[in-house]
Amino acid sequence: MASDKRERETRKQIVELARQYAKKFHPLHDFDREAPFKEGDRISYAGRVYDDEEIANLVEAALEFWLTPGRFARDFERELARVIGVNSAFYCSSGSNANLLALSALTSPLLGDRRLLRGDEVITVAAGFPTTVFPIVQNGAIPVFVDIALPTYNVDITQLENAVSHKTKAVILAHTLGNPFDIKAVKAFCKKYNLWLIEDNCDAFGSEYTLDGKTGLTGSFGDIGTLSFYPPHHITTGEGGAVFTNDPLLAKILLSFRDWGRDCVCPSGKDNVCGARFNSAANTYGQLPAGFDHKYTYSHIGYNFQATDLGASIGLAQLKKLADNTAARRENFDRLFWALKPLEDSGAIILPQATPNANPSWFGFPITIAEKTKRSRLEVARFLEERGVQIRLLFAGNIVRQPAFVTSNGQKLVDFRVAGDLINSDRVMNDTFWIGVYPRIGAARCEYMARLVTQALSQ
Ligand SMILES: Cc1ncc(COP(=O)(O)O)c(C=O)c1O
Repeated sequence: MASDKRERETRKQIVELARQYAKKFHPLHDFDREAPFKEGDRISYAGRVYDDEEIANLVEAALEFWLTPGRFARDFERELARVIGVNSAFYCSSGSNANLLALSALTSPLLGDRRLLRGDEVITVAAGFPTTVFPIVQNGAIPVFVDIALPTYNVDITQLENAVSHKTKAVILAHTLGNPFDIKAVKAFCKKYNLWLIEDNCDAFGSEYTLDGKTGLTGSFGDIGTLSFYPPHHITTGEGGAVFTNDPLLAKILLSFRDWGRDCVCPSGKDNVCGARFNSAANTYGQLPAGFDHKYTYSHIGYNFQATDLGASIGLAQLKKLADNTAARRENFDRLFWALKPLEDSGAIILPQATPNANPSWFGFPITIAEKTKRSRLEVARFLEERGVQIRLLFAGNIVRQPAFVTSNGQKLVDFRVAGDLINSDRVMNDTFWIGVYPRIGAARCEYMARLVTQALSQ
C-alpha cells in the first residue's frame, strides 16, 4: 500500500516536472498564436499545435510502459467516435493505412454480393493524394478516375454517371484540403447504384456539412471514414490514423483487418473478453477443429496496423484542441481570402471556394494561377520559398501522369480507367500550389504571405 502511494506520488512529480519542462523549453511558436514574426522568418505550411497537456500525457504513458494499445488507446478511440458522431473508431498506424483498411474491409466475404472482388471498379478522382488511390490497386481492383471541379478542388459530380459500369462497387474520395465534396450528390449517386462510399477525411477533421437540415462532421456521412494524425494535420499523434464507421458489420471487419485478420475482438493484453476462447460450440470456423483457440482464428487476410498507447495519449490531449484549432484555421483562411481577393478580381488567380452546404476546416489555402498570368507556378513557388514561405503542391497533381502509373514513353503500368477528360487535374498539376492556414500562423503571417503572393504575380 505504502509503495502504491509512493509510486503515485513519484509519478505525479515526474509528470509535473515534464509539464514545467514543456512550458519552459519547447519552442514558443507552438504555444503562442500571436508569436512574434518578422519578415523573412520561415512560415511553414503546417505545424504541430500542442502544449504541456500532450507532454504530460506522453510522460504518463511512458511511465506506464504499456506501449501497445492500452488504456489511452481505448479512451482515444471512444473520444474520437464521440467527437465524430459515429459508433466505432479504430486508431491505427497512419492515414494511408486507414485508407488501406477501409478498402480492404470491402473485400470481406462477410459482405456477400457487395464484396469488392479483383477486377471490380472503384471511382475516385485523379487529382489528390496517392494513398487515397493506391489501396484500390493494392486490393486488385481498378481505379476509375474522374476530374475535379475548380474552385472547390473536389470531384466534378457531373462526371460520376460517365464513370459507372456494371463492375463499379465503391467510391472513395477525399475532402480536398479540408473542403468537403458535394456529399449530397455523391451519396445520392452511391445509393442509386448501391455503391460503398469511403470518405478520406485525412485533411478535413473538423469540417462540417449540412445534409437534409442536419449538420455533421465530414467522415460520418459515408460507410467508412478515415483520418490521418501525421503532424501537419488537424490533430497529431506523430504517425497515426483512424478508421471509423456507424455500421456494426463494417466495424467488426475493420477491426479484424487492423488486428492481423483475426476473428477475435479481445483487446491487446486481455484474453477471452469475447467468451469464445476454447468454446467448441462457438467455434465453427473454416475447417479448424472444434475448440480451436479463437484468439488464433483468422477470418480475413489482414494486417497489423495497430498504433501505440504513446501516440494515443497525445491524441487524447489533441482532441480537446480540435474546436479551437478549427476556428483558427477558418480565421486564417478568411484573412488570406480577403487579402488576395483583389488579385482574383484582377484575373491573376483563382481563389478556393467552399462547397455549398459545407463549412470547411481548411487544411491549406489553394491558389491556381490564371491562364493569362505571365508568371509560372515554378517562378511563383521559387519566389515564395526564397522568402521563407513554404508552399505545397496539390499532392500528386494528375495521378495518372505519375511514374507509378505510366512510363515516360507512355507505357501504362497500372490497370486503370479514365472517365471523361482530366482537364482540371492537369490544370492543378501545372498551375496550383497551396500555402498554410494552420492555427499558429495568425494575422501577421497571413498578411505577409498575401503580400508576397501579390508581388510574385504582379511582377
Ligand atoms: C487526403 C490524404 N489522404 C491520406 C493521407 C495519408 O496520411 P498519412 O500520411 O498519415 O499516411 C494524406 C496525408 O497527408 C492525405 O492528405
